Amino acid sequence: MREVTYDGLTFEPYITKEQIEKRVGELAREVERDCKGTVPLFLCVLNGAFPFASDLFRAVDIDAEISFIRLKSYEGTESSGKVKEIIGLSEDLRGRKVIVIEDIIDTGNTIFKLLADLNNKGADDVKVATLLFKPDSLQKPVTPDYVGFEIPKKFIIGYGLDLDGLARNLRDIYILKEESAE
Ligand code: IMP
Ligand code: MG
Repeated sequence: MREVTYDGLTFEPYITKEQIEKRVGELAREVERDCKGTVPLFLCVLNGAFPFASDLFRAVDIDAEISFIRLKSYEGTESSGKVKEIIGLSEDLRGRKVIVIEDIIDTGNTIFKLLADLNNKGADDVKVATLLFKPDSLQKPVTPDYVGFEIPKKFIIGYGLDLDGLARNLRDIYILKEESAE
């Protein structure tokens, strides 16, 4: 595997597609165990989580449904700052087991707000599966239930993660080279 360049920044190989595939399989076994007797609804947070959601959903050998949401940000006119609203959610969540599928949890702000909204919609049990987790960046009290890889506070791309919309179609995950970040 070689380095890749986007926007003048150089990234080096970090997590291979084989490592991702193996870890997704392990997470799928955990989800199967935890979901016995229920039909969970996977909720893929677009755009970044679509490859992970697709792989995890197909790796899970139980009855399950999948749906897709996006989060819309507004610049608040008050001091409340950014507010996120769920768009595209048509399912009735009341009484359901929901597994939110995220690509990455960085500050935790996105997932924190989303979890509050989902609980308000009456979901019975909401779990969070994230492929990547940067614990050192976390600013909100969020504990993901299924974590693919814990990673340092560095910028990564590939397998759904983008740099200004690009690099999502890389099959492996790449990390920004130190000297290229300056
Ligand atoms: P949050 O900070 O946990 O709210 O994460 C917000 C969003 O930032 C994530 O869903 C990603 O879209 C994006 N993000 C955070 N870290 C990275 C990264 O290292 N590469 C690409 N996108 C990232
Ligand atoms: Mg995202």
